[in-house]
Amino acid sequence: MMIQCIALVWLVAPLSLWRVEAAPGNYTRDDLAVSFPTHVGNVALIEASRAWRRGLRTHVVIGGGIDVEALRITGGPQGESYTQLPRFPGHPVVIGHALAPLFALEAIRDFKWLLLGDDDTICKCRVPPAVLQLINEAGLNADDPHLLHDFLFYCSNPSKIDDCSGPIDVDRRCLPCPAGAKSCPCRLPPGCTQPDNWAFHNCSQRARVVVYGGVGVIYSVGLLRKMAADPSFYFSLVFRDVVPSEPWAVLVTSPMAP
Ligand SMILES: *[C@@H]1O[C@H](CO)[C@@H](O)[C@H](O)[C@H]1NC(C)=O
Ligand SMILES: *[C@@H]1O[C@H](CO)[C@@H](O)[C@H](O)[C@H]1NC(C)=O
Repeated sequence: MMIQCIALVWLVAPLSLWRVEAAPGNYTRDDLAVSFPTHVGNVALIEASRAWRRGLRTHVVIGGGIDVEALRITGGPQGESYTQLPRFPGHPVVIGHALAPLFALEAIRDFKWLLLGDDDTICKCRVPPAVLQLINEAGLNADDPHLLHDFLFYCSNPSKIDDCSGPIDVDRRCLPCPAGAKSCPCRLPPGCTQPDNWAFHNCSQRARVVVYGGVGVIYSVGLLRKMAADPSFYFSLVFRDVVPSEPWAVLVTSPMAP
């Protein structure tokens, strides 16, 4: 057994050198992964979207009431992996959406960018090429922490949590980029980084800014690794924030700026 393993590693190692290392400006479908949460009623979408997902590894987060082993058998050869989630009492089902990025990182590992969205919104064949074009034209490096999104909601009334305005395509809290930089990671002023989501009174925007995950969020692997570095960090944030008393319909708070 041991000898077989060594022989396999020896064979695989030289082969892996043949693939040109992905670089900023040059990311391809091999570097992009997709993840979406779904449920038993939408399983037809998994099958129907296989053609456009060809060559893209996909992590599906799915609820109960379905034989996930059967899905693994049909989907595995198509690059699909699955996490089956129970219902968490006290948390709405969109918690599967919030957890999907870290499950995808764990299941797929060697991707550079992750596109997360709803099963019926990101399942469009024109989306992955547009995502790659956006990332490559901006010259972004996947090892840096990036979250790209253009559908933010601003919630400014803690006593009326669904009173949010949007969609708004920029996070107005971000400090300006250094002079001459085409793009830069968003850095929040100190008044905008309070652990209490509603403590925005010293922030340049007096609102809680939330990402609407359903329409598509792009994560770099660099950001996902930071989110996963302390195993309790992101999970405790999700279980704290994805509750009925928060604007969970518009998903979890954008992760903290680096
Ligand atoms: C992308 O890859 C091609 C082919 O390997 C190479 O010629 C080109 O210089 C690369 N571009 C960037 C921006 O790295
Ligand atoms: C805002 O700043 C003031 C003065 O520094 C401080 O007393 C207050 O606690 C801060 N409020 C929040 C919500 O951070």
